[in-house]
Amino acid sequence: MKAVCWHGANDVRVETVPDPKILNPRDVILRVTATTICGSDLHIYDGFIPSMQPGDIIGHEFMGEVVEAGSEVKKLQVGDRVVVSSIIGCGQCFFCNQQMWSLCDNSNPNSWMQEPLFGFGTSGIFGYSHLFGGYAGAQAEYVRVPFADYGAVKVPSDLPDEMILPISDAFPTGYMGADFCNIQPGDTIAVWGAGPVGLFALKSARLLGAEKVIAIDRIPERLQLAREFAQADTIHYEEVDAGEALKEMTGGRGPDGCIDAVGMEAHGMGAMGLYDKVKQTVRLETDRPHVLRQMMLACRKGGTVSIMGVYAGFIDKMPMGAIVNKALTVRMGQMFGQKYIPMLLDRVINGEVDPSKVFTHQLPLNDAKQAYEMFKHKQDNCIKVLLKP
Ligand SMILES: NC(=O)c1ccc[n+]([C@@H]2O[C@H](COP(=O)([O-])OP(=O)(O)OC[C@H]3O[C@@H](n4cnc5c(N)ncnc54)[C@H](O)[C@@H]3O)[C@@H](O)[C@H]2O)c1
Ligand SMILES: [Zn+2]
Ligand SMILES: [Zn+2]
Repeated sequence: MKAVCWHGANDVRVETVPDPKILNPRDVILRVTATTICGSDLHIYDGFIPSMQPGDIIGHEFMGEVVEAGSEVKKLQVGDRVVVSSIIGCGQCFFCNQQMWSLCDNSNPNSWMQEPLFGFGTSGIFGYSHLFGGYAGAQAEYVRVPFADYGAVKVPSDLPDEMILPISDAFPTGYMGADFCNIQPGDTIAVWGAGPVGLFALKSARLLGAEKVIAIDRIPERLQLAREFAQADTIHYEEVDAGEALKEMTGGRGPDGCIDAVGMEAHGMGAMGLYDKVKQTVRLETDRPHVLRQMMLACRKGGTVSIMGVYAGFIDKMPMGAIVNKALTVRMGQMFGQKYIPMLLDRVINGEVDPSKVFTHQLPLNDAKQAYEMFKHKQDNCIKVLLKP
């Protein structure tokens, strides 16, 4: 089959590789009908995720049709059309039972590799390095889905792929970011980053009852989509100081909830921005925490900072004083896909949200290299690319 293989920073290739096989009776094999590139894939593409090996198949946001089912699969049959959580959960452990699927104790065979870094190992993720299980990714014609009864959710046949696909990863991530903010009537929620995850965070904050949502980015077409898709107010952070603007837009009090939908490659400004860039480049700091620092300062006293952007390792100069003295609640995580996917699917089916709005491009899987470059550099006003194997 054809698959997108990683060969180093800024080097992905569409190659012919062996087809996946059922390895465990609870697996299914999926024929991927649609997949896409996530901001998290850019961290791999840019070479910031450790433990990648040349030839690894990447990609974790996908949907498709079941073509083979293991003997212990109970809920799915050959021919079913499904959307699959990017996070792999066993459905049986302490963490899966509490709906904290990305903390699964059983789905990451390499969790020992994480222990020195994180203290305990976390779940596996499709196509997301050996640290996260070494699973083959889904930017491919076929993919093996372990624990399929829990990760793969049947979808109706009358909705097009582009309406369903973001329910695999970007939509539940944005939703969880908003959910963490414990939104109350009248609340204002500010979201850093108006990429796909940020757009879904803005929309989800609205679904959860936020009165005002504010998008912060510097890419005009993304800010424009934030206005259309989530009726957001917007801040172009290169034109105005985001912290000052937020104060003004919230009557001097600051947003009740602040969501990071940017992550470890935040574009920084000023002396601190340069400091992070240099330290990350020479690997003295794994992540650039520009947005985190800004959120801690901008958030209202007693508010919530919700981090959905991915950070991999260590950061410098976190304003602990602001977090402690302002009594901030800080929540974060890889998303708990299986917890949110059925509810989000219902919201799409009943017409509350049309996730297809985030797609600006569709390309054949064969053009993955071009798609990565376009998404990374925001060429041709690219916001999200659907890849058709
Ligand atoms: N926690 C999870 O489970 C999970 C799941 C999916 C994605 N993610 C993460 O969410 C983040 C966003 O993903 P995406 O697909 O939307 O990516 P994306 O790269 O399309 O979007 C990031 C956006 O952040 C903006 N940005 C950069 N620096 C900024 C700054 N200083 N202030 C404000 N905005 C800034 C960029 O212009 C861009 O529009 C990534 O870090 C990704 O790894 C996390
Ligand atoms: Zn993702
Ligand atoms: Zn589990």
